[in-house]
Amino acid sequence: MKREKTNKTIDESNPLDSDIAQEVCELVNRNGYKKPDLIQLLQDITAEYNYLPEGGLRCVSERLGVPFAEVYSAATFYKAFSLEPRGKHIIQVCVGTACHVRGASRILEEIERRINIKAGETSGDLMFTLETVNCLGACALGPIIVIDGEYHGQMTSAKVSKLLERYTATKRVKARTVKSEMVAV
Ligand code: FES
Repeated sequence: MKREKTNKTIDESNPLDSDIAQEVCELVNRNGYKKPDLIQLLQDITAEYNYLPEGGLRCVSERLGVPFAEVYSAATFYKAFSLEPRGKHIIQVCVGTACHVRGASRILEEIERRINIKAGETSGDLMFTLETVNCLGACALGPIIVIDGEYHGQMTSAKVSKLLERYTATKRVKARTVKSEMVAV
């Protein structure tokens, strides 16, 4: 699914973004990507950072010899790519009708309280991104949440608390920039 392009300014002075750009450049060089590998490279960057940092896209453009506008276009075309920083763990809470009538709102509120962010947000330490979805196709198991692609059905507030402990105990990712404003050139 195609997303709308944003038209925001770039903060060139952000040192953290520079760090990421450097890492992405190293990734590009290390694996010898060529021009036809653009999508694969964007996938590999996403696998590493969970999003496509602006500085990294500029580096991709330079190293592959692809105009930045073309790189940006590819990065915004596929829903699998995000220009916004995303957490190490992606939590999706189904708020579809079947889950809603079984208490999805309470589950969502409990998760928001536990990880201290609202739906649609990413935590400052980039541990979690919290999203809502309208149906996960497993209505009989509702209320249901998905964490990093793993389905957890018949959730209760108590189960959520226990479940999240499993993820907060994992190694934290290096804090990276929360800035991801983009502009096409
Ligand atoms: S409404 Fe939640 S899985 Fe269908």
